[in-house]
Amino acid sequence: MSKKENPQDDKLRPHVYDGIQEYDNRLPNWWLWTFYGAVILTVMYWFSWYNADVMETDAAIVEAQMAKVEEVRLAAMGEISNDTLWQMSRNAGFVSAGSEIFKDKCVACHGADLKGGIGVNLVDDEWKWGNQPISLYSIVVNGSPDKKAGMQAWINELGAQKVSQVVAYVLSYHTEQEMADAPTLNPPLEL
Ligand code: HEC
Repeated sequence: MSKKENPQDDKLRPHVYDGIQEYDNRLPNWWLWTFYGAVILTVMYWFSWYNADVMETDAAIVEAQMAKVEEVRLAAMGEISNDTLWQMSRNAGFVSAGSEIFKDKCVACHGADLKGGIGVNLVDDEWKWGNQPISLYSIVVNGSPDKKAGMQAWINELGAQKVSQVVAYVLSYHTEQEMADAPTLNPPLEL
């Protein structure tokens, strides 16, 4: 008879509770490895979930979906106003689409940091043609009222949707209050 089959040989622990005593046995290896495995997995899971950006949290997934829904809603609204342009400028979908258009069409004159060059600075706190979103939209659609200035009309090349995206991108560098407080050199352009 092997030792295992003869519990009498096993040591009893002195501790008694409710009349119950325990054998002082080593836990079986299969059990220990399941336990160690669970501990290792917990650490890996915790790390990749909360510390590395390997796995998306539920909150991040929901947030991304909500941004998509909002993007579709704003695009479907079709109506351009100061309010809708501000909303677009706070929407990740609009801003990232706008950033691509900006890199493609506007960067040569306004610079990657939007600080200007051939074109004017779009992130300083002074506007030439109006301190409201509609004015920016208007100048991108129609070009500058100053025909010698070199800011062309973009509506034919980009269409309304892309113009609103690129304006949303420029607005994402600004806040409503800051823009309203900024001086404008000419009366604000309207649509
Ligand atoms: C060929 C150079 C050039 C390109 C390309 C260009 N711009 Fe401009 N932009 C200008 C210039 C120059 C002005 C100043 C116009 C003026 O003085 O009337 C300007 C003015 C503006 C203004 C008004 C700023 C203010 O202070 O009122 C906005 C907004 C703007 N551009 C956005 C854009 C966007 C968005 C694009 C890309 C779709 C773009 N621009 C492409 C040269 C350019």
